[in-house]
Amino acid sequence: MFELYLDTADVKQIARFHACLPIKGITTNPSILAQSGIGLNQLLLELDTVLGTGARFHAQIVSQTVNGMVEEAKRLHELPYDMVIKIPATETGLTAIKKIKAENITVLATAIYSVQQGFLAALCGADYLAPYVNRIYAMGTDGVAVVADLQLLLNQHQLNCKLLPASFKNTQQVMDVLKIGVAAITLPYDVAAQMLAHPAVQPVVDKFTSDWREAFGDKLSFES
Ligand code: G3P
Repeated sequence: MFELYLDTADVKQIARFHACLPIKGITTNPSILAQSGIGLNQLLLELDTVLGTGARFHAQIVSQTVNGMVEEAKRLHELPYDMVIKIPATETGLTAIKKIKAENITVLATAIYSVQQGFLAALCGADYLAPYVNRIYAMGTDGVAVVADLQLLLNQHQLNCKLLPASFKNTQQVMDVLKIGVAAITLPYDVAAQMLAHPAVQPVVDKFTSDWREAFGDKLSFES
């Protein structure tokens, strides 16, 4: 089943979109948590109440060495939540991913800017890959094409790995990635809001209301 995540640590916004969308969980990174002003433990505690059972949390390690990453991943994995451990797909990160997967811990390879980098992370056993769509565009390369080629390679080699594209600045990027058939996606909340907003929608809803009131006043549909 498709997994929809929010890429934020803003509890208010997470609660807002959890109410109207089937949010699977959230993704974070060190920058997101630094901006949030609350640490991971406090965030998880609050979101456990907001999102309830079945929620999945993606949290990134901050260690710089292989052993540090492995130990940090184990500690995150021990938390009493459904945790996915995010590891940057660097040479050090891939080394750590191979070791962490031997411990049967769910891993997302992050900071993916190229097809080859993502493919190698999948071969190392990553359960999810997070290509950074908008950041790839910002470097002058086609971010959607990177996602499409990665999906092709995952399919061709029947790798048990889900694409979870991240870094979106507009709904067109999101739609282009969804059409590729990725299994998951993570959206900044402002882009999620853009996906719900179309300038024609509220005017037509308002017209329904005024037409109704003119004919039936305060009656409800079943009272008419
Ligand atoms: O976790 C990676 C993702 O959050 C990057 O998104 O919007 O900072 O490019 P952005």
